[in-house]
Amino acid sequence: MTSIVRLGAIKETARFQEHLRSLGVKIPCDSEILRGADSPLLNSKKVDEVTIGNRIAINPMEGWDGTLDGRPSEHTIRRWRRFGQSGAKLIWGGEAVAVNHEGRANPNQLVIGEHTREGLAQLRAALIEEHNHVAGSNTGLQIGLQLTHSGRYCRPNSHGKPEPRILYRHPILDRRLDLPADFPVLSDGEVRAIIADFHRAARIALELGFDFVDVKHCHGYLGHEFLSAHTREGNYGGSFENRTRFLREVVQGIRSFAPKLQIGVRLSAFDTIPFRPDPARSWPGKPGPGIPEAHEELLPYRWGFAVDANRPTQPDLTEAVKFLALLEQLQIHLVNITAGSPYYNPHVQRPALYPPSDGYLPPEDPLLGVARQMGATRELKQLFPNLLFVGTAYSYLQDFLPHVAQAAVRDGWVDAVGLGRMTLAYPEILWDAANGRTVEHKRVCRTFSDCTTAPRNGLPSGCYPLDGYYKGSEMAVKLAAVKKK
Ligand SMILES: Cc1cc2nc3c(=O)[nH]c(=O)nc-3n(C[C@H](O)[C@H](O)[C@H](O)COP(=O)(O)O)c2cc1C
Ligand code: SF4
Repeated sequence: MTSIVRLGAIKETARFQEHLRSLGVKIPCDSEILRGADSPLLNSKKVDEVTIGNRIAINPMEGWDGTLDGRPSEHTIRRWRRFGQSGAKLIWGGEAVAVNHEGRANPNQLVIGEHTREGLAQLRAALIEEHNHVAGSNTGLQIGLQLTHSGRYCRPNSHGKPEPRILYRHPILDRRLDLPADFPVLSDGEVRAIIADFHRAARIALELGFDFVDVKHCHGYLGHEFLSAHTREGNYGGSFENRTRFLREVVQGIRSFAPKLQIGVRLSAFDTIPFRPDPARSWPGKPGPGIPEAHEELLPYRWGFAVDANRPTQPDLTEAVKFLALLEQLQIHLVNITAGSPYYNPHVQRPALYPPSDGYLPPEDPLLGVARQMGATRELKQLFPNLLFVGTAYSYLQDFLPHVAQAAVRDGWVDAVGLGRMTLAYPEILWDAANGRTVEHKRVCRTFSDCTTAPRNGLPSGCYPLDGYYKGSEMAVKLAAVKKK
């Protein structure tokens, strides 16, 4: 592969547009940024009973910084304030909140329960206060809470102690987790108990005033693993109907006590086989470019969702389309499209120039990864015009994020542009651009991946290089030591 052009070095939009053309990637990009009432990013949008006041969304961004019993810390509250500062009218989930202790992805993940009510209410209040300050009012502000169970990636008690809860035996991922041959899969009874926890959690979210809950189906966590449970026996595996039973039962339960609470789904709309650093091009502490795991013996591939079974490095949206049709049938109108998993194909999930400590060098220009997610979202939006689509993976666009976001919304590729990593570095980038303020070049996320490397090493997530809050902190000192090793 030819070397990847650093976007930070491209100064003019025309040059960026030319770069896109030279790569042959289809990403819309406007030359001029429109402001105020002319900006497509500031138009409202109504879907079903929900109106969002503008087209800026904050995607869920977890901080690994709650207390050991799952309440927010001062770092968490600050992050939610910054979500409010973004001017976004759609806060998709805030961050992953576990429906029970066992389902936490790390010992500092938030939990939703009686003992965390006050803390979660505080997060919502801090966000609204800041949003009002920036946007003048909270009209059209929709705040959801992302409900999760981490399934295969549970680590509730100690960062160094994985406690996976799996739905089926996976020929590659089981090996990575070192699972013995007799490692148990969750029984149907245990699944039903988790579904009851989702119900309990949704009731609390409703009582706390959240506008919707996201029943998370992405990134390799439990909801997503159901969708690929082709080889599981019993009521929750095998057929499409069985693999989506978890979703239907969660939704039925919520509707029975909270018919007015909106439900959303964040979906990994396609996937690939797991990737790993190419051993032939890796050195200790220096992972090489990503390559797919050997899979010749595993064809047709039966351990993925929306993956081409005969070429599992390629997406196949057939089942994603079926899934969205099911959402429509269930009267779910809020959809957030993402892809893959941070654990086994980060270049698909969060295109970056610099890999996190457990990752690999990009096997492709990260713009291809951005285009893949944007293209899939566009295709799905065209098929389901009545669903409200939030898009993902825009942060790699860096200084050109506002130009692309504006074009994507105007041309109907997506209804709202979701910001992930950029939220940690520069939450108000789109708000600034759409309101005619100059984008602050120095604050733009450069996909250094410290916000992923930190939690992979048991530290809170955050934008260590660009957010002054971390400068000189104990957390930053520890991260520097980890990176030196
Ligand atoms: C530090 C960090 C925390 C994240 N936390 C969550 C989360 O709690 N829930 C979730 O669905 N996605 C989470 N994501 C994924 C992002 O929402 C987003 O999908 C991803 O970063 C790609 O979007 P971007 O290019 O705007 O960063 C996280 C990503 C990062 C880097
Ligand atoms: S650490 Fe900061 S610059 Fe690096 S990817 Fe995360 S948000 Fe972007």
